[in-house]
Amino acid sequence: MKNRYAVFGHPIKHSKSPLIHHAFAEQTGQTLSYEAQDVPAEQFETAVKDFFNQGGKGLNCTIPLKELAWQYADILSPRAQAAKAVNTLALQEDGMIFGDNTDGIGLVRDLTINHNIQLEDSRILILGAGGACRGIIRPLLDHKPQTLSIANRTASKAVTLAEEFSGLIAIKGCSFDELTDRQFDLIINATAASLSNDLPQLPSGLLADNGSCYDLAYANEPTPFVHWGKINNAIKSLDGLGMLVEQAAEAFFIWRGIRPETQPVIAMLRNAHAVT
Ligand code: ATR
Repeated sequence: MKNRYAVFGHPIKHSKSPLIHHAFAEQTGQTLSYEAQDVPAEQFETAVKDFFNQGGKGLNCTIPLKELAWQYADILSPRAQAAKAVNTLALQEDGMIFGDNTDGIGLVRDLTINHNIQLEDSRILILGAGGACRGIIRPLLDHKPQTLSIANRTASKAVTLAEEFSGLIAIKGCSFDELTDRQFDLIINATAASLSNDLPQLPSGLLADNGSCYDLAYANEPTPFVHWGKINNAIKSLDGLGMLVEQAAEAFFIWRGIRPETQPVIAMLRNAHAVT
C-alpha cells in the first residue's frame, strides 16, 4: 500500500497541496498518495485519529485547524512552539505525533533564496497580528533584521505580540496610523484582508527606496497588496505562491527525508495560473 498523506482544512476544495506533493513525489521518485479532506474544526480530532489509525503517515493542516493541530501534537518543534500553530503532523516510529510549523521557513526561503531579498539588518514591517503573523516572526528574527514592526487594525494585538517576541532585536507593535513618517525595507501582508480583496489603509512613503512587498496570500490576479507594492515602487512585489510551495517542500522533507526542488513546481503553478 502507498504511504498516505493528506491536507485537512475547511474549506479545502481549492487547495493546491495535492498537486504540489504529487509533483514532489514524481520528481524525487517517491511512491505516496496525498489527498485533500474537508475537515471542519469540530471534526478535527476524530478525523486525525482515524487518519493515523488507518495507516496515514503525515498530515498538513490549514485554516482553521492550525491551532488545533498544535494542541493535538505529542511533540512540538521549537518553531511550532513559538508559532503556537502547526501545519505539519508526522507519525514517528514510536507512534508519537510530531508537530511542526513550516510556514515561516517557507516564507524565509522564498524571500531569501528564490527572490534574493536580504533580511539581515533590514527594517521589516508585518501587517496583521493574527495567526499568520505569529507563525513568521521567529524565522524572520533568526535572520537578524535591524527592526521588526507589527502594525494591526486592533493595535493592542500587535503590541502584545511584539512584547511576547521581544528580545535582542527591537520589535514594536502599533496601529496603522502610527506608521506615518516611518520607512521599511520589507513589508509583509499577514492580514486576512487580501482574502476579501481588501487592503488596510497605509500611509504613502511607507516603503523605503529599493524596498520589497510580500503578500502571504496568493491569487490568480495580483492581490490588492501586491498591487499596492507595485504602485509604491517596490523593487519586488510578490504574492505567497512561492511560500506555499516552500512550506510544502519542508513538510515533504520532514516526512520523506528528501528535499524536493521547488523552482519547477512554482513555475508549473504560475503557468497553470496563466492559462486559467
Ligand atoms: P490568521 O490566523 O489567518 O492571521 P486571524 O487570526 O483571524 O487570521 O487574523 C486576521 C488578521 O487580519 C488580524 O490581524 C486582523 O486584524 P484585527 O486583529 O484588527 O481583526 C486582520 N484583518 C482582517 N481583515 C482586515 C481588513 N479588512 N483590514 C485590515 N486588517 C484586517
